[in-house]
Amino acid sequence: MNPEELIAQAQKVRENAYAPYSGFKVGAALLTVKGNVYTGCNIENSSYGLTVCAERAAVAKAISEGERQFEAIAINAPTGNYCSPCGACRQVLLEFGAGIEVYMSNDQGEYKLMNVGELLPAAFELKVKDE
Ligand code: THU
Repeated sequence: MNPEELIAQAQKVRENAYAPYSGFKVGAALLTVKGNVYTGCNIENSSYGLTVCAERAAVAKAISEGERQFEAIAINAPTGNYCSPCGACRQVLLEFGAGIEVYMSNDQGEYKLMNVGELLPAAFELKVKDE
């Protein structure tokens, strides 16, 4: 799948975002090595800290369906800036691979590409993963 297609899916799903507090709707599309795509949007809460980001919503869907190997994730938001994953999402993505490509895109579908390891250098990791 090319980056443009993945970004288009992130752009589409962001319409489902529940973001009444910030008004900032984010979409994410996570591509697995099997070629499946799991999308996610941000889900805000009146207790602000309980908000779930689009990226983590997509990861939760994929893991719940039994997929753990990811190639890439596209993130899209209605901004001229490339939408970059927050620190918490970087850590969650890192759990599944520093090599995951992150397409940070803007409203026009233009993107900047970095991998998770570049976005979160010197990350905390426990070397006891057995799964
Ligand atoms: N948000 C995401 O969904 N992903 C990010 O990587 C950055 C922030 C959401 C959280 C909140 O609902 C809104 O964007 C404004 O911060």
